[in-house]
Amino acid sequence: MTRTLLIDTDGGSDDVVALIMALRAPDIRVPAITIVAGNVPAEQATQNVLFTVELCGRDTPVCMGAAKPLVRELVTAQWFHGKDGLGDHGYAPRSLLVDSRHGVDAMIQCVLANPGIEILTLGPLTNLALAVAREPRIIDAIGRCVVMGGAPCCEGNVTPAAEFNIWVDPEAAKIVFRSGMKLEMVGWHLCRGAAALNQNDIDKILALKTPVAEFTIRCNSVAAEAYYTQTGERGISLPDPISAAITLQPKLCTDASMHYVDIETASDLTRGMTVVDRLGVAADERNRGNWGWAFKSKVKTRVDWTLDVAGWKAALFVALK
Ligand code: BDR
Ligand code: CA
Repeated sequence: MTRTLLIDTDGGSDDVVALIMALRAPDIRVPAITIVAGNVPAEQATQNVLFTVELCGRDTPVCMGAAKPLVRELVTAQWFHGKDGLGDHGYAPRSLLVDSRHGVDAMIQCVLANPGIEILTLGPLTNLALAVAREPRIIDAIGRCVVMGGAPCCEGNVTPAAEFNIWVDPEAAKIVFRSGMKLEMVGWHLCRGAAALNQNDIDKILALKTPVAEFTIRCNSVAAEAYYTQTGERGISLPDPISAAITLQPKLCTDASMHYVDIETASDLTRGMTVVDRLGVAADERNRGNWGWAFKSKVKTRVDWTLDVAGWKAALFVALK
């Protein structure tokens, strides 16, 4: 059965690999890709996504959305992904043009036209928060929303408390996490260590000798160095493709559980922290005063804890053949 999947992305070097996986999946229909500012400004992200769609031989509509977070200034991650977000190798689309619809309008249209649709978000949650605020009917119409974002009960990559996508626009993330839609969180912890591509994986991918395989490794050249600077770990870490793999094959997540999750927006120290009630203490009468929202809301998020690493890499190799 064909599944319909809308992807919202900020066009970085791991985003485009996630797009390749989804666009080349035989049982997936992508009605639109919406662009949000994040890793790079929205204009650049749009160019990167158009290039990738062309590389995959598709003509999927690409719709530019929010150019900045809801209330804060945009902070990009160009030091990590390259100035152009794709390692600065000069990738540019040849003929595909951006769709005339705004990303938020396209998102609302796609959801209402395809009840039960799945959404995969790969950047800050600005577009989705705007869509929820403008058309709350989408909350129940979304069958599953997989969010690459957050650092559940662990350190983040931007600050000790927060992961990039949530940190950039925490107000948007709070709206989405509190909305009540069927949310699944793929945190940054899932793409580290053994889940990152090691030299053997990289050699295997390059040996495929396909344009998408070559692109995957080359456009992540700056990101690989930046990941080493950030973590001291060697390899290519791919948070967005891992989120795509879990979206396409849910069994690749080997342990998940439902929790209250809220987002820190007030503190500078812990801005964008994804606070997970892992032990369920919000339900304890003695704690209700502190976490009243969570208990009253009954809104829980599925938090993905562990990954089938071999299965994820196998899924990537198949997508790049
Ligand atoms: C996330 O932020 C970006 O750098 C990546 O594209 C990914 O979406 C990881 O924190
Ligand atoms: Ca991203």
